[in-house]
Amino acid sequence: MTSLSNKRILLIVSGGIAAYKALDLVRRLRERGASVVPVMTAGAKAFITPLALSSLAGAKVHDELFSLTDEAEMGHIELSRAADLVVIAPATANILAKMASGLADDLASTLLLATDKRTLVAPAMNLRMWLHPATQRNVATLRADGVLFCGPEDGAMACGEFGPGRMSEPLAIVDAIEAALTGDTTLPLPVGIAAAPGTKAPPLAGRRVVVTSGPTHEPIDPVRFIANRSSGKQGHAIAAAAARAGAEVILVSGPVAIPNPQGVTVHPVETAREMLAAVEAALPADIFIAAAAVADWRVSEEATEKLKKTGGGAPVLTLSENPDILATVSRPGARRPALVVGFAAETEHLLDHARAKLARKGCDMIVLNDVGTGTDTFGGDTNEVTLVTASETIPWPRLDKTEIAERLIETLVPRLEAKPS
Ligand code: PMT
Repeated sequence: MTSLSNKRILLIVSGGIAAYKALDLVRRLRERGASVVPVMTAGAKAFITPLALSSLAGAKVHDELFSLTDEAEMGHIELSRAADLVVIAPATANILAKMASGLADDLASTLLLATDKRTLVAPAMNLRMWLHPATQRNVATLRADGVLFCGPEDGAMACGEFGPGRMSEPLAIVDAIEAALTGDTTLPLPVGIAAAPGTKAPPLAGRRVVVTSGPTHEPIDPVRFIANRSSGKQGHAIAAAAARAGAEVILVSGPVAIPNPQGVTVHPVETAREMLAAVEAALPADIFIAAAAVADWRVSEEATEKLKKTGGGAPVLTLSENPDILATVSRPGARRPALVVGFAAETEHLLDHARAKLARKGCDMIVLNDVGTGTDTFGGDTNEVTLVTASETIPWPRLDKTEIAERLIETLVPRLEAKPS
């Protein structure tokens, strides 16, 4: 068994001389137990044949957006989501530009827009095209969107010039695929990205952000648990916004029914104690944001068998207090993140309770939201929050949770930069 066993890779081959290396990449992936679903752009077919690619992949090549047969077998939306990882090798300047601007004018670009899976690109192009400010802008956009890069490398080009633009070797791409599938988002920056003219690193590049999200489930017996109505929408949106801002993001999530955000490493947990352990394992970090609705109490003695009606009255559940994750992470010490942000979910005396929580838990900021009856804060798509710090009270209007997340990350960036490193 390898970490690629039974993994399904959607491999998009775009048009460049390095397309011949995609054939070797397919072979290496299959040797390691992965299955490869190949997709070719029109340009790719000028360099390698669909027959060669399909023979090595042992699977049919998809190349038409409006193919009646393909749509009948598996629609293109489903094709884009059935994979564990989407890989583009080689990725031309053209396909990077289409991805960065959200164009969908052929099968490959449509799949890239429709997928809910992580995407890894292995660029290959002439060095002038790679270093062009337009390409560098697109690369910066894609990185901020959570797209992973492998290469390109410095080297001699097919056109006779020397510099950055060579596609990484198939084995290096295999390593990057394994890292992407095991949640390692710290793949090396592509050559030239930092030095390219006119490009700015995303604001949280090189920073690590840990976010908690969703509810916790505290078991009563093997079939019952204590829980709450958190959907994870707010916490997941924050994790996605931090990843778009260039951070390496670890999302520790209780049980939720929404998809994992792109470009984020997710650690699923059930109970408050598991959440605390996963958060502590994810530290050190620059920012910690506690958006999870952690159960304050758990049942002291979880029954090993399903509780039965005995006719002697209802069972009495004795509760114990759960560890406070936010207060634990906020404790002063070398491992305390530079910025610790908590939420306060209140139904009355909102500001008083938020200020008391800020002081009691020792965090730098509380995001206060009203969870009273009829607010739809738990589970809904919008939220109305007030940021509370030791010296500020900043009310925001009702906004979509994704907009709250964007604004929160934007608000935190200068505060983080102002901290002594
Ligand atoms: O998930 P959604 O449906 O999108 O809903 C979003 C939300 C309402 C869950 C979210 O916006 C929110 O308010 N999250 C915090 C909910 C909560 O438990 O608040 P609290 O006031 O009980 O806790 C205060 C803070 O301490 C929170 O940051 C919480 O994560 C943290 N905490 C609480 C208890 C505990 N044992 N450990 C903690 O870390």
